[in-house]
Amino acid sequence: MQARENYWRYIVAALVLTVAILVLFEIYILREPQRISADKEHDALIAVTAGRTLYTQNCVSCHGEQGEGVDAPALNDKKFLADTADETIFSLISSGVPSTEMPAWNQTYGGPFTDEQVRQVVAFLRSWEADAPDREVEALAGDPVEGLVIYNSTCIVCHGETGQGTEQASALNDPEKLAKFDDDWYADTITEGRPSKGMPTWGTVLSPAQVNDLVALLRAWEQGETVEPPGPEAAITEALHALEEGDLHGAEHALGEAKQGASGDVLALVNEALDAIEAGDATAAETALSQAQELLGAPDMGGDGHDSGG
Ligand code: HEC
Ligand code: HEC
Repeated sequence: MQARENYWRYIVAALVLTVAILVLFEIYILREPQRISADKEHDALIAVTAGRTLYTQNCVSCHGEQGEGVDAPALNDKKFLADTADETIFSLISSGVPSTEMPAWNQTYGGPFTDEQVRQVVAFLRSWEADAPDREVEALAGDPVEGLVIYNSTCIVCHGETGQGTEQASALNDPEKLAKFDDDWYADTITEGRPSKGMPTWGTVLSPAQVNDLVALLRAWEQGETVEPPGPEAAITEALHALEEGDLHGAEHALGEAKQGASGDVLALVNEALDAIEAGDATAAETALSQAQELLGAPDMGGDGHDSGG
């Protein structure tokens, strides 16, 4: 009796063990594809990282840090990435584009990269695709800040400082009205005008891009956004450049623009530079503008351009 019981105990234990092994094996089989795909993801991540380094070292000067394009086409572009297969990008990078600035990168074509490295760069470019901007659409979409500059010089007399309307013309900042008509309607209305009712035809004066900028401004108003005029940075840089070229008139013109966006100490320096130019002292003007640039570059400048040294 005693021996028999022991014998059964062994059989049960063996059965339990067999089932356990089967279950474990099943779990392993089930998890295998997951493991393989995790490996693949890991490999892809390594390729993207290596590709990013190669890109930063070799492509940024022409194609831009974010692939936005500097002296060469944008690569971080929804349409380009959607339309161009990996193999095509691989061969474009490998052979370059003959008789353009785009050099050959693959050793096969006398470049510095191995096949593997070209593939890594392709993987890096591909990693942009999910959030790549559509540059064609972006180029067409207006810029409300540009729109405000045009508005202030062209529309403000009749439609008022904030588009609230005047005795001469209706309001343009009424959200309910703005919501009723689409962008095309506004672009057409601005382009064609309503000459018989006192709204001039702007299509002969403004480019389609400028009209789009104005529509973007109206849309910003619809959303209740306050659009600020552009800061004086660009105009000050332009003025400095003109001074370097000995173009006092150009500098004066740029500073006229800079004044509109400047305030506080920066405005004082811009005025100082203007006085210096009038007195024919380009060096003093440059000094004042460099100081203004330094102020603008300071991180504590905030949005309103005030820095009263508190
Ligand atoms: C000296 C400037 C320069 C450098 C550096 C450069 N490219 Fe280019 N690349 C160009 C130009 C210019 C073109 C457009 C050629 C043409 O007219 O078709 C181009 C085109 C391309 C294209 C095809 C784009 C399209 O829309 O057809 C790809 C892809 C590309 N470059 C990738 C790269 C990569 C990746 C690197 C770095 C490894 C790189 N380029 C470095 C100038 C450059
Ligand atoms: C000389 C005065 C004048 C100027 C300058 C002017 N507008 Fe107008 N605008 C009008 C008048 C008047 C109307 C109303 C016409 C009507 O009653 O149908 C109008 C109507 C409009 C409308 C249609 C509004 C609506 O809800 O029906 C838009 C949009 C518009 N203007 C945009 C502009 C823009 C943008 C500019 C600057 C590029 C501009 N206007 C410059 C006089 C002007």
